[in-house]
Amino acid sequence: MEKFVIDGGTPLRGEIHVSGAKNSAVAILPATLLLDVPVIIENVPDISDVAICLKILRGLGAQVERMAGEPDTYRISCEHVKEHYVPYAEAKKMRASYYFLGALLGRCGRAAAAMPGGCSIGARPIDQHLKAFEALGAVHTMQGTDVVEVSADALYGNTICMNVVSVGATMNAILAAVKAQGVTVIENAAREPHIVDLANFLNFMGASIKGAGTDVIKITGTPVLLGNAGEGSVVDYRYSVVPDQIEAGTFMVAAAATRGDVVIRGVIPKHLEAITAKLRESGVQVVESQDEDVIRVFVEEDDVLHGTNIKTSPYPGFPTDMQPQMATLLTIAEGQSNIRESVWEDRFRYVHELKKMGARIEITQDGAVVQGGASLHGACVNACDLRAGAAMIIAGLAAQGRTEIVDIQFIERGYDNIVGKLRGIGAKMEKIRSLP
Ligand code: EPZ
Repeated sequence: MEKFVIDGGTPLRGEIHVSGAKNSAVAILPATLLLDVPVIIENVPDISDVAICLKILRGLGAQVERMAGEPDTYRISCEHVKEHYVPYAEAKKMRASYYFLGALLGRCGRAAAAMPGGCSIGARPIDQHLKAFEALGAVHTMQGTDVVEVSADALYGNTICMNVVSVGATMNAILAAVKAQGVTVIENAAREPHIVDLANFLNFMGASIKGAGTDVIKITGTPVLLGNAGEGSVVDYRYSVVPDQIEAGTFMVAAAATRGDVVIRGVIPKHLEAITAKLRESGVQVVESQDEDVIRVFVEEDDVLHGTNIKTSPYPGFPTDMQPQMATLLTIAEGQSNIRESVWEDRFRYVHELKKMGARIEITQDGAVVQGGASLHGACVNACDLRAGAAMIIAGLAAQGRTEIVDIQFIERGYDNIVGKLRGIGAKMEKIRSLP
C-alpha cells in the first residue's frame, strides 16, 4: 500500500508550475478519434486518468507515442482505428471513459463502453449524454447490466436542450455533432474552460464550433477534419492543453492554509476568478501578475484569515472541484462559514476525515457548517476521492505534526507529480510504500 506522509506546520514558499488540465486532456485525447490526420498534443498531465485514456486509444488501434525529450507531449494517429468497443476494464476505471462514446459515434457511427467509473460523489447518471446522442439520430441499448452501446446509420444536426448544466454531456454532444450532417445547437451548455479547450482543439483541426464558453454552442457539421493545411500537406499539428484551473486553485489554497507565499506559474488568471474572489474574502492576498500567466498567493504575518460562505455552481461560479480544499482552509480561518454544494449530492465525505484532525465542521441538510479557528493536528486519514484527497494534503500541510494519507491512488488520478511540486516549495512530504 502507498501513502503520503506529511510533517505539517511549514509555510509554503517559492514558485510552482501548473500542468495541463485533467478535465481537458481526458476529452481532447478521445477527440483525436475524429481526426483524419495525426496530431501532437502538448501539456498533457502525467496522471493515471490520462494513462487510461492513452491505453484505451491504443486498445482501439490508435498509434500513440510519447515524444522524445517532451515528456508531456504525445503524437496520436487514429487513421487505422477499426474497433468501436472501449476496453471494459479501462472504461470502469474513470468517469471520462464516456467521451469515447461520443468520439467513436462521431467517427464511425458505433460505440460501446461500460458505464463509467470515477469518484463516488453522487449518482453520476449519463441520461443527458444519451439524450444528446438520440437527438442526433443515434439509438442506445444496454448490453447486459452496464455496457452502453450507441449506433447510428448517420448523424444529423439538431437542437439539444440540456435539462441540467453538464460538463460531460456538453463535451459528448460536441464530439458526436462535430462531423454530423447539418447544424447542431446545444442549449443550456456548460461553460467550463475545458469545454472551450475542446472546441478550440477541434476548430484548430478544421471543425466549425461557435459559442463554446457560453450556454449556447453552435456546431456546423464538418465531414472530414484535416487540420487547416488542407489535404495532402504533411505537417505535424500541435495543440497545447489548457492549464489546470483546479490544480492551480489547490496550490492557491495550500499557500493560504500554510500562511505562505507562493507564485504559481502557467495559469490563466481569468479561469481562477471565483477562487481568487473567495480567497480575498477570507483575508488572503492574491496578486495577478502583469505577465498574465502568473498568480501570487500569500498571507502576511499580521493578516487574520476569517470565514466566508461558499456555494458551488457551474463555471464561472465557484467550482465544485474546489469545495473540499476551500472547506479545509475555512476550518482554520476565524469565524463561521457555510458551505453549499449544488452540483454533487455526496461531496462531503472528507468532513469525517478533517474531524480526525481537529476541524470543527458539521454536515447539515443544506451542506456543511464550519466553526473555524481550529488548530489542526496530524492524523491518519483517507483520501475518499480525488478532491477530498487534495483537501487532506492541504490539511496535513497546515497541521502541526505528522499526517498520513492512504488511498492516494485517488489523488494521483488528477494531480501530476504533486509530491515533487509541493516539496519544491518547502513541503515536508513524501510518498512511501508500506506493507499492507
Ligand atoms: C465533470 O464531471 C468533471 N469530471 C468533474 O470533476 C466535475 O466535478 C464536474 O464536471 C462538474 O464540474 C470530468 O470532467 C472528467 P457533470 P461530469 O455532468 O461531467 C448531473 C474532478 O474532481 N448530470 O457536469 O460527470 C450530475 O449528476 C471531477 O476533477 C445528470 O443529471 O459532471 C451532476 O449533478 C469530479 N445527467 C451535474 O449534472 C447527466 O447525464 C453536473 O455533472 C450528466 C450529469
